[in-house]
Amino acid sequence: GKVLVLHGPNLNLLGTRQPEIYGHETLEDVNNALRETAVLAGWDIDCRQSNHEGELIDAIHAARLDGTQAIIINPAAYTHTSVAILDALNAFEGRVYEVHISNVHQRESFRHHSYVSLRADGVIAGLGTRGYQAALNAVIRASA
Ligand code: DQA
Repeated sequence: GKVLVLHGPNLNLLGTRQPEIYGHETLEDVNNALRETAVLAGWDIDCRQSNHEGELIDAIHAARLDGTQAIIINPAAYTHTSVAILDALNAFEGRVYEVHISNVHQRESFRHHSYVSLRADGVIAGLGTRGYQAALNAVIRASA
């Protein structure tokens, strides 16, 4: 199998950005742990981060054509604003898991609504960076 992990804007700052909310692990730590799990399960994994909405959309389009079976996405702030990312995900036929490191429902009300949740097969919020591992386990099991 093949899985794409997409991290949205500001997640390149993970580990140093509001660590009381997002923790001390860096994005590299998160991606390395995901790669380890994927390799053990015999999955190909591609982990990408972008601060640009269009780049995230282009990566979703590429996933339609390269045999990617699942996308794990933390759209970050675009979660709450981006119809364009929702539309791109609607054009992708595999499974989609939405991950938020923090419990968005416990925070400002503008974080309570997600466009991406309309498409996501599963949503994980508030488990910290372990949420990505939970999503990857779901991907691996769904296709076992
Ligand atoms: C986030 C939550 C979003 O509201 C926020 O804009 C982020 C990160 C999370 O992982 O908890 O950048 O997606």
